[in-house]
Parts: sequence; C-alpha cells; structure tokens
Amino acid sequence: MLRLRLSGGLNNLCTIIFSFILGCTFMVSIAPINKTCKLDDTDREHNIMKNSKFRGPDLIIIILSAPKNVKNRQLIRDTWRKLYGNKQNNLEQTFKVKHYFVIGNLGLRADVKRQLTDEQNAYKDLLILPMEDHYRNLTLKVKQAFQWLSDQYDYGVNFKYVLKCDEDSFVHLKSFVDELIEIERLYLSPSNVQTVVKALEDNQGKTISANIQVNNKSSQKQLDLYWGYFSGNGRIFTKGKWKETDWIFADKYLPYAVGGGYLLSKNLVIHIAKNADNLRSFIAEDVSVGFWLAPVNNILRIHDTRFDTAWRSRGCQNHHLVTHALTHQNMTELYQNLKAIGQLCLTETKRGPRVYIYNWNVPPSQCCKTAEENTIKL
Ligand SMILES: *[C@@H]1O[C@H](CO)[C@@H](O)[C@H](O)[C@H]1NC(C)=O
Ligand SMILES: *[C@@H]1O[C@H](CO)[C@@H](O)[C@H](O)[C@H]1NC(C)=O
Ligand SMILES: *[C@@H]1O[C@H](CO)[C@@H](O)[C@H](O)[C@H]1NC(C)=O
Repeated sequence: MLRLRLSGGLNNLCTIIFSFILGCTFMVSIAPINKTCKLDDTDREHNIMKNSKFRGPDLIIIILSAPKNVKNRQLIRDTWRKLYGNKQNNLEQTFKVKHYFVIGNLGLRADVKRQLTDEQNAYKDLLILPMEDHYRNLTLKVKQAFQWLSDQYDYGVNFKYVLKCDEDSFVHLKSFVDELIEIERLYLSPSNVQTVVKALEDNQGKTISANIQVNNKSSQKQLDLYWGYFSGNGRIFTKGKWKETDWIFADKYLPYAVGGGYLLSKNLVIHIAKNADNLRSFIAEDVSVGFWLAPVNNILRIHDTRFDTAWRSRGCQNHHLVTHALTHQNMTELYQNLKAIGQLCLTETKRGPRVYIYNWNVPPSQCCKTAEENTIKL
C-alpha cells in the first residue's frame, strides 16, 4: 500500500498528485481534473510511486535540457549515467541516484511534443514543466524544478541531496558519491557545529575550502550543504546574452556556486521552493541560487576545485568530479577512458581559466585569486 505523509487536506493531495502527473508523464492535455484522491493499481501515478528506484533516492540529479536536444540526453544516458546504477556494486544499492532531464513544454511544436512523449515512455526520466523553455527562463526552470521536488517530498518521496547540472556536464558519479558520503560523515553528521568547524580546520586542503554560516555555534542543528565551485567576485553582466538589468545589491554578484554543477541538501531546495514566489530572480540561475541562499542560516559552503563547472572547462583532470562545457566527443572520450582504464583522462591537460581556492576570510572581491596571483601579491 502507498503511504502518504500529509500536512494539508485532500485538496492539497489532489493538487500534488495532479502536479505529479503534469511533471512526470506529460499527460498535460488529458490529465483528469476531477479525479478522486484514491489511487488504485491501474493508476499510472500509483505505478510510478511503486517504482522502488523512484521511492527513496539519496541523490536526485536535475539536468537542465532544451526540448530538442535529444542527442545530448541520450549521450548522458549512454555515458556517465550508465556507469552508476550497476546492481552488483554495494555502494550503488545503498546510495541511490535518480536523474531527470528538466524541460519546459509550453509552446512547443507538435512534433517536438511527440518526440518528448516517446522519450518519456522509453526512459521515464523527463521532468516536464509548464513553462516556456528559453535561456532567459532558466531561473524559472530551476525554481519550478525545486517546487516539483518539494511537492514530491510532501508526497512521501524522500531524498537527501539535489545536484543541478547541465546537458554538457559530465559527472564522475562513483567518485562524486564517495566524496558526498565522506562530507556527510565528516561534516554533516557530527552532533554540534563546533565539532564540524574543528573537522574542517583539520581537513582544509589543496582541493577544498569551506565556510559555515550559523548564528549559534553550539547549536545541535544539522548543517545544510551548498557544494560546488564558488565565485565571489563575479562581474555583473550589463550587455550580451546574460545582461542583468535588475541587479542593485552590490558591485558584484553575491557568492554563488557556478552553474555547470552544484549540490544542495534537501532543506535548501525546500526552502527555495516554499518561498519561490517571493524570491527575486535574475537571468543567471546560479547567481540567483547564491542570492537566495545568502541570508539562510546553518549552511556549510564547500568550495571544491574538483568541480570544473564554469562556462569553460579547465581541461581534463582525473580528480574532477564534475566537468562542464563539454563536446559530445569529450563526453564519449571521458566515458571510454573510465571504462577502459578507470580514470577520466588518458593524459591530464590544463587550459582556460586557472584554478583558485576560494578564500572565505577576505572580502569577496579578493576571494578568488589563483596561486600565481597570490604569489605576485606576496
Ligand atoms: C518565460 O516563461 C513564461 C511563462 O511560461 C512566459 O510567459 C515567458 O514568455 C517566457 N519567457 C521567454 C523569454 O520565453
Ligand atoms: C544555542 O544552541 C544550544 C544547543 O542547541 C542551545 O542550548 C542554546 O540555547 C542556543 N543559544 C541561543 C542563544 O539560541
Ligand atoms: C575536450 O576536447 C577538446 C578538443 O579535443 C580538448 O582540447 C579538451 O581538453 C577536452 N576536454 C576534456 C575535459 O577532456
């Protein structure tokens, strides 16, 4: 039997079920509005809810995708996503991962809609949202995806973390999950914030730097996690594709994890979802998420150089957990290397912007200096 955790009444449940149908099965035009709230075996949503894979994923990956980019989605299914989920591996049984390609469906051509329906029937991994899919709507897309996840949670689908990435991102999932479990063990489980601060000081290394925002350092409250590659001195775009006309808050963007891949723990996703209608949105979704989380208490921010998630890749590095801005050929190569030799790169390369360790102890304008810049200054 299906067990539901309910705070609202039956109407509430109907809305949730309805939005679930909208989101999950693309039956927008034929979804029955006056449905009773009782689910039975023949209901599609009942069968989806029964699907054990769906029931309690630890990590949900949302991959923003444009409706027509069928090839990108298939490439992800056939490469990095395929490497995780092998039933024999113990980790993959105990730490479950579920991915969704997030797509807006308003105003699509009939043939594109048909294609999406076929794709959904075949893979059941599209999260179709009622919005126009346009890059200027990406922030809305992230908001709606979080609202959908929050609805799922209210409906009884538990999850712990959400990783947001793009359709040109490659996630080395096994390593990613290993690291996440380690972060959870070291920093999220300890019984009070002071032990976390201590653990962080001990582990601050060459790849990560962290900051904790809490009002009460002796609090027992569990910390939330915001993990990625942070930028604190981002120039406000005043022209071009990412032009921002409404930003009045500071001379730079507030610190945010860049958008090719960042992870939020559940409470942060739910916080954004529940307040979505009152949160200001900017053109860039990653900038918006950083802004929305700026005033939230009890967050552990981890800057991690193993997230190669800026607009341009820094090259192939075996320790990278997420690599962004990849071509199809890049993705195929990384996958083949992982399969053949168990690592991402045949030879490691460095290109594009240099890596930095975020310095949380100085004003954001000074946060993000590369080793070279730091040396010159000294
Ligand atoms: C963004 O989505 C909204 C709601 O679907 C729509 O009204 C608007 O036209 C979209 N914006 C763009 C630029 O597509
Ligand atoms: C801080 O947290 C501790 C432990 O949770 C609690 O006993 C104490 O009252 C809190 N202090 C304040 C000022 O909220
Ligand atoms: C992607 O391919 C380009 C061109 O071959 C190469 O220069 C770059 O290093 C590759 N990136 C990764 C992460 O493998």
